[in-house]
Amino acid sequence: MTNNNIYFVANWKMNGHLSLIKRLKNVVILSNNKKYKKIKIIYCPPFTLISKLFDKIKKSKIIVGSQDCSYEDNYGPFTGDVSPKLIKEIGAKYVILGHSERRLKGDTNKIINRKIHAALKQKLKIILCIGETLNDRKKNKTFSVLKKQLLLCLKKINNIDNIIFAYEPIWSIGTGVIPLNNILEHDISKIIKFIKSKFKNQKPKIIYGGSVNPENIVKLKHIKNINGFLVGGASLYENKFVDIIKKTTI
Ligand code: PGA
Repeated sequence: MTNNNIYFVANWKMNGHLSLIKRLKNVVILSNNKKYKKIKIIYCPPFTLISKLFDKIKKSKIIVGSQDCSYEDNYGPFTGDVSPKLIKEIGAKYVILGHSERRLKGDTNKIINRKIHAALKQKLKIILCIGETLNDRKKNKTFSVLKKQLLLCLKKINNIDNIIFAYEPIWSIGTGVIPLNNILEHDISKIIKFIKSKFKNQKPKIIYGGSVNPENIVKLKHIKNINGFLVGGASLYENKFVDIIKKTTI
């Protein structure tokens, strides 16, 4: 882990309901605890729950984000789209882009790049997901895939201050399988090196995502240069999410 801010992103995916939001308590308390002042908790529920979640955590330090956005940044006749402007207006600060589950639904690197430009224009911060499939890894293509994703998604972007990079090996998402610490550490340092080579004098923030849970966090927290975690399944259970945060900071 780094000595800087540590990010915990809760990605609820297409899950969650009002009662889950109403029950949030311990994470609110934790976020207000001075002992955890370096911890940044970002909840990303489905669009439909953002405003309810926002009401619930208003008095806490929890930050709200969305799981995607349109590449149309403003208002307009785009039925079904949710623009960065609308997301910003409701009080959310972040947007997850490039998640492999969105890429499966058709988001190409080019589309993700357009979404990044739109989101930055509306002053949203971005959690940009990159990751390789198991097949890519087996064929030794991990880095060519990651580099391509980075290069195309970041086209015409000059500043990465408002971007958090989430490295999520696709084979680890929702499978319970996580990379070995030494492999993950090696991969993350290569990603950081590559980003630094493209963005001179800038400091990339990188988090890991894929099957993070209260058990494996005790291992994962030892990864050097990591700025936090993107948590899917386990973030639906407040006790597990709080446990992950607490164990990381012990
Ligand atoms: P998971 O999901 O923690 O359920 O593996 C992570 C993600 O896809 O963001």
